[in-house]
Amino acid sequence: MADRPADRPADRIPEPPLWEQWAAASAELHEGERLQKVMAQRGYGSRRVCEEMIAAGRVTVNGEVAILGRRVAVDNDLVEVDGHLVALRADLVYYLLNKPEGVVTTASDTHGRETVVEMVPREPRVYPVGRLDRDTEGLLLLTNDGALTNRLTHPRYGIEKEYLAQVTGGLVSSSALRTLREGVELEDGVTAPAKVSQPSPGVLRVTIHEGRNRQVRRMCEAIGHPVSRLIRVRIGPIFDRSLKPGEWRELTDAERRALEAAVTTT
Ligand code: URA
Repeated sequence: MADRPADRPADRIPEPPLWEQWAAASAELHEGERLQKVMAQRGYGSRRVCEEMIAAGRVTVNGEVAILGRRVAVDNDLVEVDGHLVALRADLVYYLLNKPEGVVTTASDTHGRETVVEMVPREPRVYPVGRLDRDTEGLLLLTNDGALTNRLTHPRYGIEKEYLAQVTGGLVSSSALRTLREGVELEDGVTAPAKVSQPSPGVLRVTIHEGRNRQVRRMCEAIGHPVSRLIRVRIGPIFDRSLKPGEWRELTDAERRALEAAVTTT
């Protein structure tokens, strides 16, 4: 018997019968929570406003434009509004802490030192996003949203971190500032270009998007001006001049969305 040509219908994976396709689509419509309700809970506006966003085709579920009446499984489905991921689970929390000097950025410290997770509510358990040295002060995010943490700390997204560094040795020369801007030779390689200014003699505003260990301290040391005080004042779109050392607050919905937008590829 002659071989059957490979493109004959019998050799393709058969499509499920139409009624099964319809049943699957219908189950998606009837299981889970209503999309506009979930969006409204996550701060996208009233249910009515969210319905209008869905009707306008601005909302996708798992990559497909959602229709009105769509329901979503908050644990599994991926919802995006205007291409930005929506955090669906209501049990996810996002804290912004102003870390004081002397507190360690670990989930638990074997030496009994105070840790950043002890400075925010114990339940649900959260983890720091990246780390600040024990002696560094300033803004630190803590969350139980592992997916967002992974993206925020992934070099691919290059989230900017801005620091104020008080350095020893007084006024930093313009050639030393240029070195910081263009890249400093460190033992683990040359640093990526940084934004650097000197708002007052011996105080540097340094913005980097890498996350190497003790990077700002090592950069300043390399130009002969060791850091005497280091404060992180911004993480991507997040800043807060009124949060005092040791204080924390939840991110606003707008801030959370801005963070998600910062780590969404278009
Ligand atoms: N760079 C440092 O040197 N220390 C920090 O804690 C953060 C950035």
